[in-house]
Amino acid sequence: MSFFPIEQAPARLNRSELAVPGSQPQMFQKAAESDVDVIFLDLEDAVAPDEKVQARKNIIKALNEIDWGKKSMSIRINGLDTHYMYRDVVDVVEQAGERLDLIMIPKVGTAADVYAVDMMVTQIEDAKGYGKRIGFEHIIETALGMQNVSEIAAASKRNESLHFGVADYAASTRARTTVIGGVNENYAVLTDPDQDGSRQVHWGDMWHYAISRMVVAARANGLRPIDGPFGDFSDPDGYKAAAYRAAVLGCEGKWAIHPSQVALANEVMSPSAEEVARAEKILAAMAEAEAAGKGAVSLDGRLIDYASIRQAEVLVEKARQIAA
Ligand code: GLV
Ligand code: MG
Repeated sequence: MSFFPIEQAPARLNRSELAVPGSQPQMFQKAAESDVDVIFLDLEDAVAPDEKVQARKNIIKALNEIDWGKKSMSIRINGLDTHYMYRDVVDVVEQAGERLDLIMIPKVGTAADVYAVDMMVTQIEDAKGYGKRIGFEHIIETALGMQNVSEIAAASKRNESLHFGVADYAASTRARTTVIGGVNENYAVLTDPDQDGSRQVHWGDMWHYAISRMVVAARANGLRPIDGPFGDFSDPDGYKAAAYRAAVLGCEGKWAIHPSQVALANEVMSPSAEEVARAEKILAAMAEAEAAGKGAVSLDGRLIDYASIRQAEVLVEKARQIAA
């Protein structure tokens, strides 16, 4: 390991994160009763300009009055380029800051954006005498944000997670797609011709680079990488495939833009019983190997070594967190 220490963000379960528009208070109770790990009450893109003020009031009331149980509660504030943002922070943190765990900053572009919100939140928390610090979730969803993702990830002690906002990212990078997440038939490769001359098309994952880039910045700074929305809520298979791709790359959670996606995210982002059993077997085999003075051994015909211990520990620790 490097001599450079990586401080880990607080261990918060974040397999699923449900987006709930602040302008739809009739949805709040159902969200509170769901199995989701994190809820973000939205003040940004799911709320029309005329509804922003009322949505803020709805959110303050709901944070104070609804029993959200053990869920982590977040608000997505408006972007720093709008005049809504300062009131989102001031009003919600002043009036409902005790039940607020996280603030989600959309379209974050530079480390200075994070600094500005940190300064505001710190002043309010100090003035109110709150005992805890609110954490930050950043949506990486612009070309600028992706370019500066490492600096953003390191910009505040409040940082907890980076989220891939695929819809705005597509718009910002001018990617030729109008769907929210998932694969695109125009991002495809052709196989070599078969003997009869026929060829197959294989679709690629056009988000691979962006998610991987974000995962690296998140993990290098001890943060959780979280995959963002999948718009077609009538396609659970497509959702799960996207979630598995993100999980394989290191993401530990995915957004749900519809309540039906919560169970899918929880399923994909929880290690299966077989994976946990295999990880435990690796740890046991490596403990035995170590006792015998060996650094690497074979298990079921495959090599395992000290790196296998670290991979296995990640899985076992995640299973422990979920069971807690
Ligand atoms: C999320 O905010 C997105 O733009 O995908
Ligand atoms: Mg967005």
